[in-house]
Amino acid sequence: MSLNDLSAALAAIVAGRDDDATHALRRVSGDGSIMARALLHALNDGATGGAYDEAAAFQTFIRAGGNVPLYASVGDTLAAVYDERRPATLLDIGTGDGMALLPALAKASHPPADVTVVEPHPGLLASLTARRPDVRAIAATLEAFAASLTENDRWDLAQSTFALQSVAPEARREALRLLRPHVGELAIVEFDVPDLAWASDEMSASLARRYERAASEYGADAELVAGGFLAPMLLGQIRAARPSNWEQPIAAWIDELRDCGFVRIYVEHVHDYSWAPAMLLSASSQA
Ligand SMILES: C[S@@+](CC[C@H](N)C(=O)[O-])C[C@H]1O[C@@H](n2cnc3c(N)ncnc32)[C@H](O)[C@@H]1O
Repeated sequence: MSLNDLSAALAAIVAGRDDDATHALRRVSGDGSIMARALLHALNDGATGGAYDEAAAFQTFIRAGGNVPLYASVGDTLAAVYDERRPATLLDIGTGDGMALLPALAKASHPPADVTVVEPHPGLLASLTARRPDVRAIAATLEAFAASLTENDRWDLAQSTFALQSVAPEARREALRLLRPHVGELAIVEFDVPDLAWASDEMSASLARRYERAASEYGADAELVAGGFLAPMLLGQIRAARPSNWEQPIAAWIDELRDCGFVRIYVEHVHDYSWAPAMLLSASSQA
């Protein structure tokens, strides 16, 4: 299987040349590339689905492969944050089905007693509340939630793991500015992705390598995970006309938090994931 062909197909998608991409994907899908088959299918179907539409694919993705040690480290890291800061109230943004939150609460010696979660996907939220009915669950995007905050809304700590990348940069900045006076501290976990020039050969090659490696970790579930989660996620990153994911290097997250008024921003390494290193950013709101 040639990663060069997959990389060429990604470059064609970035350039908006889906027909060229389809030709390149046909060549490489016959050679056993899991991502080529998944992308070909997505392009043939019109590729309108979002990365979280097929909740079962995302839930399978985060429960196997390299995600097992990644989430174990994320849980340990967040539990250490709770034990050190001792927040009484916690807000989790983009909680998914609680794969990061629930183990962190269980591992901590001093977990927050009062937990609010904000998650727009109804299926993922229902999966979380079925296990933790005591959590206050808000079915909304961060942007809508932040715009609805009132004077008395206040949390000691807000956290978000791998979710802020799903919010478009301008809307995200606006939401973080609105949120800041309502939280004492903010802790986010995101990947320190390589800083590669948009539409460069290096960008396509890096994405081809990282996605194919991720897909290859899923054995019998590879088709489900690649078709239902990885392909829509990848298309959301590289389609300039219809983006739905905005990962960025940690240095850019630091600038963004500072720009939104957060101070005393600290960075801690969480786990070396195959995708990129996962890092914790903790910041004070001054509020
Ligand atoms: C990679 S998942 C992470 C889920 C969870 N935090 C975890 O670590 O397993 C990204 C989550 O962000 C949610 N999301 C997508 N758009 C969002 C938005 N605009 N505001 C808040 N959450 C969003 C998705 O529904 C999904 O649950």
